Amino acid sequence: MIERSLVLIKPDGVQRGIIGDLISRFEKVGLKISASKLVHIDKAFAKKHYKAHVSKEFYKGLEESITSGPVMAIVFEGLHCIEIVRKIVGPTEPRTAPPGTIRGDYSSHSYEYTDPKNIAIRNLIHASTSKKEADDEIKLWFSEGEIFDYDLVHEKHTR
Ligand code: CDP
Ligand code: MG
Repeated sequence: MIERSLVLIKPDGVQRGIIGDLISRFEKVGLKISASKLVHIDKAFAKKHYKAHVSKEFYKGLEESITSGPVMAIVFEGLHCIEIVRKIVGPTEPRTAPPGTIRGDYSSHSYEYTDPKNIAIRNLIHASTSKKEADDEIKLWFSEGEIFDYDLVHEKHTR
């Protein structure tokens, strides 16, 4: 099934200067960029995006980290896109993310100690985990007019 997924290169990824490297991992498996923009979100928007985590003890650190600078927001599209994107991203904890995954290969440190009581895991990237999450997140981050439908060259040649 053709799906869409929301990927965010979080402020730690943008500030490392590895946007190109990270995007190319998804392009290499044939996923298509349907939308993209650089956005610096505020705390109110962070609460909407991470609504499932607002009550968690790590939320303060997470909010601080996600609002600390611009993020590169991208909508990817392709067959089994949600599952494939998560496979490429890897597990949440960089310490346990295997080599070959973005979080395993690029995370230079697991934790950012902004405040000893509020530790956020810095893992470079966000990716939707389900169809429902992807639909909600894409709606939150992009308007209809910002999302494009076009054929990649391999799609043109197989039609
Ligand atoms: O990003 P992912 O879907 O893999 O993980 P999540 O459980 O949805 O958590 C969202 C984000 O919160 C993570 O990517 C981490 O940046 C952060 N987090 C944290 O700082 N401490 C935790 N114990 C769990 C998550
Ligand atoms: Mg998640």
